[in-house]
This record gives sequence, C-alpha cells and structure tokens, in this order.
Amino acid sequence: MKIARMGTVFAVLACLGLAGAAAAAPAASADDEDATKANAECLGCHSEQGLQNPPRADMNLRGLANLLVSGERFSKSVHGEEACKDCHGASYSKYPHEGNSRFQIKMCPECHKTAGREKQAQFQTTLHFKNHPYNFTCTSCHDPHTLQKPKQLGSAKRVAAQDNGMCRDCHDSDYRWGKFTTKERPNLLEIHKWQPNPELHWQSVRCVDCHTPPQENGTNHALVGKDKAERDCVTCHSSSSSLRTRLYRFFAEQQQVANKGFLNGAVLTQAYVVGATRNEWVDWGTWAITAFLLFGLAVHGGLRILFHQLRQRRDR
Ligand code: HEC
Ligand code: HEC
Ligand code: HEC
Ligand code: HEC
Ligand code: HEC
Ligand code: HEC
Ligand code: HEC
Repeated sequence: MKIARMGTVFAVLACLGLAGAAAAAPAASADDEDATKANAECLGCHSEQGLQNPPRADMNLRGLANLLVSGERFSKSVHGEEACKDCHGASYSKYPHEGNSRFQIKMCPECHKTAGREKQAQFQTTLHFKNHPYNFTCTSCHDPHTLQKPKQLGSAKRVAAQDNGMCRDCHDSDYRWGKFTTKERPNLLEIHKWQPNPELHWQSVRCVDCHTPPQENGTNHALVGKDKAERDCVTCHSSSSSLRTRLYRFFAEQQQVANKGFLNGAVLTQAYVVGATRNEWVDWGTWAITAFLLFGLAVHGGLRILFHQLRQRRDR
C-alpha cells in the first residue's frame, strides 16, 4: 500500500515539476524610465564600471569599493522601480557627499506606513532590538537593494534561501556577530540537533517558520527564542500542516492538485513532506481495505467458531 501511495505521489510530482517549470518564468519588471536615468548617475560611480573607470579623479576609491550596488539585482528587487533618490536624500546628489548624509536615508516605515509600524512594534519585542537598540535595525536583515518578493522568486526553496540567508549571514559569521556582542556565537547545527538533518530542513523551511508566532497576513516580526520556538514535528508533518499558512502560502494557487484528492497541494508541488503530503482517496482506500480485512477476519473467525460448535454437537 505504502509503495502504491509513494508511486502516485512521485508520478504527480513529476508532472507538476514540468508544469511548474513552464509557469515559473520570472515577471520582467517594467522599468520606470525616469528612475533608471536618475539611477544611472549614482551607478556611474557605485558599480564595477564606476570603480574601473572613475568619472572623477578626486574619488575615494578604497571607500567606494565596499559600496557597490548591482544595477541588475536592484532592478529585479521590490524597489526596482524606485529612484535611488527616493530613499537617499538630496545631499547624495553632490560629490563628495556631505558628512551627515547618512541621516538623510529614509527609513522603511516612512513609506511602509501600516506594515512598517506593525513590524516595528513586533521587532521591538525581540532580543535583537532590546539588547542592541542602536545598531540592530530593519536593514540588519533586509537589504533594500536586493530584496525580492516571494512570488517573484517562484519556489519555496528559493524563498527559503533568501529568508534564511538574512539570518545565517550573521548567525554563521563571527565577523558580523562580533559587531553586536562578545557572547559566544552559538553553532546553528549544534543548537538544532534535536531535529534530524537540520541542513536539509533549512532548504525547505524557514527560520521564521519556527521562530515566529503564526500570523494571518505576512511574517510576524516578534521572533521568539528557545522557550517558545516550534519543536513539534507534527505541526508540519501532518495533514493539517502549519506550512500551508507559512512558507507555502505564497504558492497557494498551485493547489491544483487539491481537487484530485490531495491535501496540502501547495506543499506537495514544492516538497515531499512526510505526513503532510497525502491523498485523501488513498487515505480512504487504506481505511476501506483495512475495514474489509477486519470484516473478513471477523467473518472467518465467526464461521470457524460456528463450525467448531457444530462439529462438537455432531460428535457428541
Ligand atoms: C562621482 C561619484 C559618485 C556619485 C555620482 C555618487 N557617489 Fe555615493 N559615494 C561615492 C564615493 C567615492 C563614496 C565613498 C565614501 C566617500 O568618499 O564619501 C560614496 C559613498 C556613498 C554612500 C555611503 C557613505 C554614506 O555617507 O552613507 C552612499 C549611501 C552613497 N554614496 C550613495 C549615493 C547615491 C544614492 C548616489 C546618487 C544620488 C551617489 N552616491 C552618487 C561616489 C559617488
Ligand atoms: C528603498 C530605499 C532605497 C533605495 C531605493 C536605494 N537605497 Fe541605498 N540604502 C538604503 C538604506 C536604508 C541604506 C542603509 C543600509 C544600512 O544601514 O546598512 C542604503 C545604503 C546604501 C549604500 C551604502 C551601503 C553600505 O554598505 O553602507 C549605497 C552605496 C547605496 N545605498 C546606494 C544606492 C544606489 C546606487 C541606489 C539606486 C540604484 C540605492 N541605494 C537605492 C535604502 C535605499
Ligand atoms: C521611498 C519609499 C520606500 C522606502 C523608504 C522603503 N520602501 Fe519598500 N517599497 C516601496 C515601494 C513603492 C514598493 C513597491 C510596492 C509594492 O510592491 O507593494 C516597496 C516594496 C517593498 C516590499 C515588497 C512588498 C511587500 O510588502 O511584500 C518589501 C518587503 C519592502 N518594500 C521592504 C522595505 C524595507 C525593509 C525598507 C527599509 C529598508 C523599505 N522597504 C523602504 C517603497 C519604499
Ligand atoms: C523546525 C523548527 C526550527 C527551525 C526551522 C529553526 N529553528 Fe532555531 N530553534 C528551534 C528550537 C526548538 C530551538 C531550541 C533548541 C533548544 O532547546 O536548545 C531553537 C534554537 C535556536 C537558537 C538559540 C536560541 C536561544 O534562545 O538560545 C537560535 C539562535 C536559533 N534557533 C536560530 C535559528 C536560525 C538562524 C534558523 C534558520 C537557519 C533556525 N533557528 C531554524 C527551532 C527551529
Ligand atoms: C531578524 C530579521 C528581520 C528584521 C530585523 C526585520 N525583518 Fe522584515 N522580514 C524578515 C523576514 C525573514 C521576512 C519574510 C520574508 C518575506 O516574507 O518576504 C520579512 C518580511 C518583511 C516584509 C514583507 C511582508 C511580510 O509581512 O511578510 C516587510 C514589509 C518587512 N519585513 C518590513 C520590515 C521592517 C519595516 C523592519 C524594521 C522595523 C523589518 N522588516 C525588520 C526579517 C526581518
Ligand atoms: C545582524 C546580525 C543578526 C541577524 C541578521 C540575525 N540575528 Fe539573531 N541574533 C544576533 C545576535 C547578536 C544575537 C544575540 C543577542 C544577544 O543576546 O545580545 C541573536 C539572537 C538570536 C536568537 C536568540 C535570542 C532570543 O530571542 O531568545 C534567536 C532565536 C535569533 N537570533 C534568531 C534569528 C533569526 C530567525 C534571524 C533571521 C530572521 C536572525 N536571528 C537574524 C544577530 C543576528
Ligand atoms: C517547520 C516545519 C517542520 C518541522 C517542525 C519539522 N519538519 Fe521535518 N521536514 C519539513 C519539511 C518542509 C521537509 C521536506 C524537506 C525536503 O525534502 O525538501 C521535512 C523533511 C523531513 C524528513 C525527511 C528527510 C529526508 O532525509 O528526506 C524527516 C525524516 C523529518 N523531516 C523529520 C522531522 C522530525 C523527526 C521532526 C521533529 C523533531 C521534524 N521533521 C520537524 C518540515 C518540518
């Protein structure tokens, strides 16, 4: 039975893999002409070409080398249609930039009014903020020049890579970690030994899927530590898997398999999660066969008892 079930799952997976590859062509963002032109001015210096052929002789090239922005990645990012100057104030238009230019960079909540305020309040409940209120900010995790939308990334694995990258960039780096604290940096693999193969899990599930309370819309930013983090396997490995409302919600329209009897269709199209990806019909079939078997056994047993008694009565 198990083998038949796995067979069905793999056949469907193969078909969906093909369909998914065809559907997942990334949407090209329509470039805003004005923004592109204005950005070319900044990118004239803040790019590989700018560094190779400096437009001015008096530039601090050593400083510039650490301040390059990829125009290509920026144009694909969530802010790809913004101008650099929408976030970087007027003093960046002159070079050399003024000393206090940093204070002219717009912060996220200035544009993201509702979401920004909500995230800010949640973020302020975390140890990240409480222990490091001045140097831990939204941009410690989010790079506004490269951040991409989950839908645009197209697959659960790529979303997991982007989102886990934000955390691991720092939690796996003595250099970045050391900028915040002298406490020893815990080794992620050691901490997560309670779970089989954490590295494999992190390809298909995000840190925030376990370290944040569930929230209907978007990602709750009130990160929790070891006391409250998710450690129950059944939360994900079950027919009512929490993954449906977490990472895999971005692919909810891929539920096309749902009407063929599959539960958690969106999860199934992205990964095979033991216990979560299952077919209702196969489940029912298994129950039916089990019931039939029990019924058969009962009839068989009943008849044996009956014939045994008949034989005893005849022998007497
Ligand atoms: C003529 C070359 C040039 C142009 C044009 C230029 N920059 Fe710069 N920028 C630099 C160099 C060189 C540095 C390195 C540090 C320094 O010398 O101030 C720098 C530093 C920076 C910094 C980091 C330092 C700080 O104060 O935060 C930011 C941010 C920045 N530039 C943004 C921009 C933006 C946005 C634009 C377009 C509006 C722009 N730059 C246009 C050359 C340029
Ligand atoms: C959505 C807002 C936003 C847009 C649009 C934006 N930036 Fe930034 N940029 C920021 C923020 C916020 C920071 C500060 C990051 C930090 O504190 O580490 C920053 C930092 C920088 C830095 C310094 C990087 C560093 O490591 O300190 C450079 C250089 C820069 N931006 C250039 C650009 C250029 C060039 C463009 C246009 C192609 C651009 N930015 C567009 C928000 C933006
Ligand atoms: C100058 C205004 C401005 C600033 C400042 C700004 N953004 Fe945005 N952001 C936008 C616009 C415009 C969009 C595109 C609208 C959309 O797609 O929803 C966007 C889209 C996004 C998205 C994708 C939409 C979503 O809700 O999933 C994220 C995530 C995001 N921004 C994060 C940030 C972060 C983090 C910062 C601070 C580092 C920031 N933004 C600063 C204007 C801004
Ligand atoms: C499957 C759920 C799950 C995932 C995914 C997960 N964690 Fe955890 N994490 C936990 C649990 C449960 C603990 C507590 C372990 C213990 O009791 O020591 C923990 C512990 C931690 C701790 C120590 C917390 C403390 O309070 O000392 C850190 C730091 C951490 N995780 C970071 C991460 C990062 C970064 C990622 C992504 C690469 C991640 N976790 C992915 C469940 C998870
Ligand atoms: C500890 C890392 C971290 C910090 C700090 C952080 N974020 Fe996020 N943020 C994430 C992750 C991970 C996601 C999930 C990625 C996604 O959904 O695109 C996310 C998603 C978002 C989104 C997309 C919409 C959503 O709800 O999923 C917005 C907007 C956002 N963050 C804004 C902010 C703002 C504003 C701040 C500062 C107050 C901030 N973030 C601080 C890690 C962080
Ligand atoms: C810029 C560096 C940096 C980034 C990015 C970062 N962290 Fe941390 N994190 C830290 C530091 C430093 C501490 C230790 C804080 C302290 O105790 O002072 C910490 C502590 C933690 C803890 C234990 C504290 C607690 O609340 O109990 C957890 C869990 C955690 N981080 C998870 C994450 C997750 C999940 C992400 C990504 C969404 C992330 N971190 C992104 C630097 C970072
Ligand atoms: C936050 C959700 C989540 C939690 C909690 C979780 N898992 Fe998983 N698990 C997954 C996902 C998603 C996959 C699919 C990984 C893949 O194949 O890409 C997976 C895969 C697995 C696999 C298959 C690995 C392989 O080698 O193919 C095993 C075994 C497993 N999990 C066991 C566990 C156990 C035991 C626990 C509890 C201690 C647990 N998981 C907790 C989400 C979770």
